[in-house]
Amino acid sequence: MDKQNDQSRMDKIVSLAKRRGFVFQSSEIYGGLNGFWDYGPLGVALKRNVKDAWWRDMVAGHDELATLTGAPSPYEMTGLDCTIIMHPQVWKCSGHFDLFHDWMIDCRESKRRYRYDHLHGRWAAHRGKKVFVTTEASGDEAVPETVARAQKFFGLRAKQVDEIEWGGGLESLEQVIAAGSATLADTLGPDAAAPGSLTEPREFNLMFETRIGALAGDDDDRAFLRPETAQGIFVNFKNVLDTSRVRVPFGIAQVGKSFRNEITPRNFTFRSREFEQMEIEFFCKPAESAEWYRFWRDRRWKWYLGLGLTEGRLQLREHHRDELSHYSVGTADIEYAFPFLAEGEFGELEGIAHRGDFDLRSHMEGKLVRKDGELVVETGPDGKPRHRGSGKDLSYFDDVSRERYVPHVIEPSAGADRGTLAFLCDAFHEDEVPDEDGKPRSRTVMKFHPRLAPVKAAILPLVKKDGMPEVAIDLYRALKPHMACQYDEKGSVGRRYARQDEAGTPWCLTIDGQTLADKTVTLRDRDSLVQSRVPIADVVDLLRDKLA
Ligand code: GAP
Repeated sequence: MDKQNDQSRMDKIVSLAKRRGFVFQSSEIYGGLNGFWDYGPLGVALKRNVKDAWWRDMVAGHDELATLTGAPSPYEMTGLDCTIIMHPQVWKCSGHFDLFHDWMIDCRESKRRYRYDHLHGRWAAHRGKKVFVTTEASGDEAVPETVARAQKFFGLRAKQVDEIEWGGGLESLEQVIAAGSATLADTLGPDAAAPGSLTEPREFNLMFETRIGALAGDDDDRAFLRPETAQGIFVNFKNVLDTSRVRVPFGIAQVGKSFRNEITPRNFTFRSREFEQMEIEFFCKPAESAEWYRFWRDRRWKWYLGLGLTEGRLQLREHHRDELSHYSVGTADIEYAFPFLAEGEFGELEGIAHRGDFDLRSHMEGKLVRKDGELVVETGPDGKPRHRGSGKDLSYFDDVSRERYVPHVIEPSAGADRGTLAFLCDAFHEDEVPDEDGKPRSRTVMKFHPRLAPVKAAILPLVKKDGMPEVAIDLYRALKPHMACQYDEKGSVGRRYARQDEAGTPWCLTIDGQTLADKTVTLRDRDSLVQSRVPIADVVDLLRDKLA
């Protein structure tokens, strides 16, 4: 396996993503917009394939009559497509209005803003002068960055760097300040020349605000772009129950845009301000919820493996008991070793959370808080609920067992963009292949799982004469209704293979002299490079079988 975490590898992936039309910076001709990304012709197909695979595997293709491995019983799946702007009370009851924030810290000198929990630093001393040097860099870059900053601060030449005395390794600024072992006055901000320029940390709500209506002005017109798709599902729980025949246990799935005004968007599309989520809210009997939680955790883990992510780069991390909300039996994150992270670090692709009855109760009763180990409605100074719920009954009546209860929720919540980024990073390979003269040529190849590959097959006439293009066009037209394919007659066949390898096309079909004689084509496999002859009449069925 390639080195797992490597910035130069990431740089190559980012450059290929732009050169081949996977991902562009949003509004690039105007200098781009931090935290916003556009998908190009290949990228839109890749991301759509990720979302379609998720929808097909979790919802449309789900067998409601079977008991899947690890599941306590059969279950039903259905879907929703909710609006991005919802009633502002939704976010008050869900807790996002009061609690969905990050701590941020400003630098008076550089005028830059940082996420408090993203700053790390270490003590540096030279000839009686001492400073806590911070950096925003992470991974392998963080320590060299503190060295360079301390060297500049103390006014040293490169050969004097060894004179700096270091007071230990990198520590989180947040923790060092909380522990009282440094103050902001001692701290050299990541882009500052002198210590003491960082402000006290402040809360910053991550929801994007907007106004509804032409005459918008007062606070009642304030609305928010949804920071997650999940709440649209909770507030439609009763609608779905009343209008479809679903019975608990069942899941409601939704794919759609979410928006978070991230303080420090970074790492390509990993932390964006506009992104897509693929979320399931699975409603079950409270007594069965622990079993359902384990089922969904394992099922989602296997989904990523089934679509080809390298197992050694994936990690299933169960949250420690101290990290869990008190109503939660378990939460696990599925994480991937992205190349921009330091060796041994992983970034979250998906969280699977046991949420108890927290969400449905919040939308019935009002915003809940924890008091003496119980969830109770939070009250204001007047003793009334701080944020009133809908007052609608969101409980479920089981007409077989004659029980009424508020279902518990298991939430597998995945990021479509993070998933796409992981598939993009994992697919990236560099190797050597023989060229047309048998000499080794280096190639970049995107080894996407065929289901995810933006283009499934390329049809290449060896030369643009002798009737080869006509046969190739017929084959292209026979394949096109079944899968995304491309016809390419431009350049040498070696160059055309190279173009398709970079796009991640699993199969190339070459029409040559022999095709005209025996009605067979060459099928070239992207990964094994094996070339075999296949009757032209069998191509459609053969490739459809491979994709099934
Ligand atoms: N409803 C639960 C929820 O939203 P989350 O862990 O905040 O949970 C779920 O988000 C997933 O959404 C994450 O695992 C990640 O894949 C994706 N996600 C969250 N914030 C993101 C961001 N700023 N940019 C890209 N993807 C993000």
